[in-house]
Amino acid sequence: MIEHRIENLLKQMSLAEKISLCHADSKFTTAGIERLGIPRLAMSDGPHGVRQEIAPDSWAPAGWTDDYVTYLPTACALAATWNRDMARRFGDVLGAEARHRGKDIILGPGVNIVRTPVCGRNFEYFGEDPFHVGQMAAEVVRGIQRNDVAACVKHYALNNQEWNRGSVDVIVDERALREIYLPAFERTVRAGAWSVMAAYNKVRGQWCTENEYLVRHILKGEWAFDGVYLSDWGAVHSTDGAARYGLDIEMGTHDTDFEGFHLARAFREAVERGAIAEAVLDDKVRRILRVMIRTGMLDPERRRTGARNVPRHQQTARDIAAEAIVLLKNDGVLPLDMHSVRKIAVIGANATARHAEGGGSSEVKALYEITPLEGLRRKVGRMVEIVHVEGWRDTGHEADQPADDPESEFADALGAARAADAVLVFGGLSHKYDQEDVDRRDIRLPGRQNELIGALVAANPRTAVFLIGGGPVEMPWIDRAPCVVQAWYAGMEGGSAMADIVFGDVNPSGRLPVTFPRRLEDSPAHAIGQYSDVQCEYREGLLVGYRYHDTKEVEPLFPFGHGLSYTTFTYGNLTVDPRTLEIGVDITNDGDREGQEVVQLYVHDAASRLPRPVKELKGFEKVTVAPGETVRARFRLTDRDLSYYDDQAGRWVLEPGEFEVRAGRSAGDIRLVQRFHYGGPPPVR
Ligand code: GLC
Repeated sequence: MIEHRIENLLKQMSLAEKISLCHADSKFTTAGIERLGIPRLAMSDGPHGVRQEIAPDSWAPAGWTDDYVTYLPTACALAATWNRDMARRFGDVLGAEARHRGKDIILGPGVNIVRTPVCGRNFEYFGEDPFHVGQMAAEVVRGIQRNDVAACVKHYALNNQEWNRGSVDVIVDERALREIYLPAFERTVRAGAWSVMAAYNKVRGQWCTENEYLVRHILKGEWAFDGVYLSDWGAVHSTDGAARYGLDIEMGTHDTDFEGFHLARAFREAVERGAIAEAVLDDKVRRILRVMIRTGMLDPERRRTGARNVPRHQQTARDIAAEAIVLLKNDGVLPLDMHSVRKIAVIGANATARHAEGGGSSEVKALYEITPLEGLRRKVGRMVEIVHVEGWRDTGHEADQPADDPESEFADALGAARAADAVLVFGGLSHKYDQEDVDRRDIRLPGRQNELIGALVAANPRTAVFLIGGGPVEMPWIDRAPCVVQAWYAGMEGGSAMADIVFGDVNPSGRLPVTFPRRLEDSPAHAIGQYSDVQCEYREGLLVGYRYHDTKEVEPLFPFGHGLSYTTFTYGNLTVDPRTLEIGVDITNDGDREGQEVVQLYVHDAASRLPRPVKELKGFEKVTVAPGETVRARFRLTDRDLSYYDDQAGRWVLEPGEFEVRAGRSAGDIRLVQRFHYGGPPPVR
């Protein structure tokens, strides 16, 4: 049916009409063909909220007053929930609001692997493990597309830094490409993503907008992707390369000269003179029409109208934020008891900062954003006195000059801390540091925060440090701080969720989607690989994130998958069926309150012809366990989960032999191990 509709439209189109579908006719649209009932196709950022309306011919806001939306927690926070249902709800909200704003393609999710902690856009990405990223992002895609809006998985591929993103040439070996950097794109494409965005950078010398191997051979070849491959804005460099190597729509090359786009006049002339076969153009048009039909654009009445700024969307934002918050360390400070605590000191620039409109193209014109201070005040009302002192101003400088005496420098904050029953510090980063097109210079806390935190934990032992931001920071005070919480960019209801965690109305269940290294130099991209701006060689290969820390035995500050609860869990009875690869493990809640546990399943290959990381995540389940109860977490592995990519053979290989499944709370806290033989004839014992 769809293909018949496509062919019927295609044969009626003139050459000029076909070409008009392959390039922008405004900042975020491509042309329609009125006589054939084809409307303009409308796109919008971004990955955690539908962007405000942008002017047709510049990056300026269009100045609308009715384009407020739901501001969801960003991808790094969603990833920290390790909850597929939350990911699907996230996608459902984003898709429904995009539909309501009249958009046909929403430009997200971003699934680039976090290779270095300094990448300015890590807040828009899901983390360092390809399996975890793929599982979570696939649910976002499903949630978006059920609203008749195309997801656009980005940025394909190897856009793992912002430093010179427009021209850096990434050199990566085939196994790292296949086992680390492509699986999340493969997973989302196989989950049915209707569009993919080409990245700015080069890979192995070819632009991603004209990369024969990545696009023709893998994306549209091996993976049989039948949707639209569209460019990042201004990422196209030629007509011939873009046309031949698989780009379907060119966006953002110019602000006004739309006929001057590479896939506009020049493309039409190349087809007219026979330099490029019209069949090449027809394939692009088929793909574009396929997305239009799938989103209902060509139906007389759009099936879905979407919804925006409705309570259930705001509740989803709050639920995700509550499950995203990671309790990194807690020596009895949290939760606070509202009935016994009389006065709380709230310190730090991020107690009152709002983040929605920062970060670059993922900016969100949020209907509202509840700050941590507002969340706390709403929760306690008149029951607890809250004293707020800024203590440190976010000036945007990476590190201010050291003052001589913290006592005088932080006198107000220290006075408030000493007079309070408990201290909550809201520090970390902001979009002055986590932003598109810029990488961080280091992973130190900006300004004088380290000195402030050190002084506060000395002034009051009942101090909890909340870190806002898109990824790890160095914590020189960690041994002196009794309680540390990673709160990410938690969306419009972030302040409410943090207050729920502080007073125990929510039992924290977030887990780190990235390794927190002790110092930047411990990160593989900086310890082994290159981090550079002209040509960047990923010499660390497969050893990204915990794969490196495990294999090279470099102790992180907090490991991948780490997160505490207000209760404790024990693991028991790990079983593996070596025939079906069905796996089960019992999780018992030893504490006195309900909690959620993220059971992580890692696979170790005891012997392989090619080198493999010590262990690799191949399963995770989030289970809710009542006090004293035992729940069984179940998994089913596939042959692909046990395989590695053989770059000589050019395919995934499952080598029969001995494997282990390692079940645990994090990459650094394995609780049970079970060895089994798999593949080929059973061993002769
Ligand atoms: C930006 C970003 C991309 C965004 C696009 C449109 O340069 O790289 O993620 O969707 O342009 O704003």
